[in-house]
Amino acid sequence: MDKFLVYNSSLSGSVKISGSKNAALPIMAATLLTECKCILHNIPDLMDVRTMIKILEVLGKRIDFKNNTLIIRNCSNKAFIAPYNLVRTMRASFCCLGPLLGKRKKAKVALPGGCVIGPRPVDLHLKGLQSLGAQISIDKGYCLGKTKQLKGAHIYLGGAFGSSVLATANVLMAAVLADGETVIEHAACEPEIESLAIFLNKIGAKIQGHGSPIMRVKGVKKLSGCEFNNICDRIEVGTFIAASLATRSALTIKEVEVFHLTSVIDIARKIGAEIKINGRTLFIKPKQRLNPINITTLCYPGFPTDLQAQFMAALSFAKGISLITEKIYPDRFMHVGELNRMGAAIQRSGPHCIIEGKEKLFGAEIMASDLRASAALVIAGLAAQGKTEILRVYHIDRGYEKIENKLKKLGAKIVRKKQ
Ligand code: UD1
Repeated sequence: MDKFLVYNSSLSGSVKISGSKNAALPIMAATLLTECKCILHNIPDLMDVRTMIKILEVLGKRIDFKNNTLIIRNCSNKAFIAPYNLVRTMRASFCCLGPLLGKRKKAKVALPGGCVIGPRPVDLHLKGLQSLGAQISIDKGYCLGKTKQLKGAHIYLGGAFGSSVLATANVLMAAVLADGETVIEHAACEPEIESLAIFLNKIGAKIQGHGSPIMRVKGVKKLSGCEFNNICDRIEVGTFIAASLATRSALTIKEVEVFHLTSVIDIARKIGAEIKINGRTLFIKPKQRLNPINITTLCYPGFPTDLQAQFMAALSFAKGISLITEKIYPDRFMHVGELNRMGAAIQRSGPHCIIEGKEKLFGAEIMASDLRASAALVIAGLAAQGKTEILRVYHIDRGYEKIENKLKKLGAKIVRKKQ
């Protein structure tokens, strides 16, 4: 296991954003819907992507991955089991269920279970697939599904916490090869879902309304292959924005899909950053003492839960009291205790955190608990006085491509060591 040693740093220069992990994973799963070759560009080289490659290989795909390009070919349509030893490391693998049912008419996919950010149910995935006529049962930790042929349906996919990104992906992928028309109401509007629909249309699906809460899918008999460019990672952009704010450093961020980041840019400006945009390049210059602010995480186009921890780290340096309300994962606060060990003053009450900004935080030995919390701790470490030692950084490798190299290029003092 690796750890990071992070020292107080001021950052400068420019950083290029990688392809989006959360867009790449469902698109990779979607290649199960076709026997034709698919070439995917701008795929980040991450542990989660490597895990999805292994799952697709088990499911009969032959895959080459070089220079951020994936070439996915079909060898066999027989396999239908996504095993627990792979699925347990990454929840996104559950979105093989929809394409397996749509194309191979049967699926056995391990249930992913909970994780440190709270309970992660899959009821919406199952409800949507059952509405399309799939017979679903749960046995010994696996979800078993079968169908003679899926049939289009009108599905309401809203849950207690709004729409679900991967449930929308699963149901959408199953619906493209179903007989007749499917309407998905309360579909997730996240850019990653929009991008999945664009990919599916490129291989022959007939989807309308993607990017909005009502999607219409006309089932087709067969899909082809294509060459596709993955979108850039909006969460990585937001992470560098939070790093810029916390360290009060001017940065240039390249390969930014600005329209995916409206809420984040709005919040960063309120916190006190001057932000200029030129095409796909974003320039950020924060003021020395940040403004406190209230943030509520919401489904897209609201402020993303995947940036809550990083912005909490930044707001720990604001002049005054901020409030963060987590509406997607009300228990996603594992980073609070670690930030407080560094001298932050954060009080949690249910889904709310009250953050009393401090002029300084101080390096400490702390523990990463999940992917985005790890990024928050790195940000706090860069802005804190002295040395911060972050244990269990394997979480960060799941979702950030070459993070310490990118940070080092910006002048960060960060070292990876064996734990
Ligand atoms: C995706 C992202 C994750 C992000 C999350 C919310 C990927 C690979 N992961 O995860 O990084 O944090 O969206 O933007 O894209 N829910 C249910 N029933 C379900 C499914 C979800 O109640 O069947 C609830 C969840 O517990 C949560 C909310 O819906 O409260 C949103 O979760 P969801 O959008 O499904 O998250 P994921 O798609 O798993």
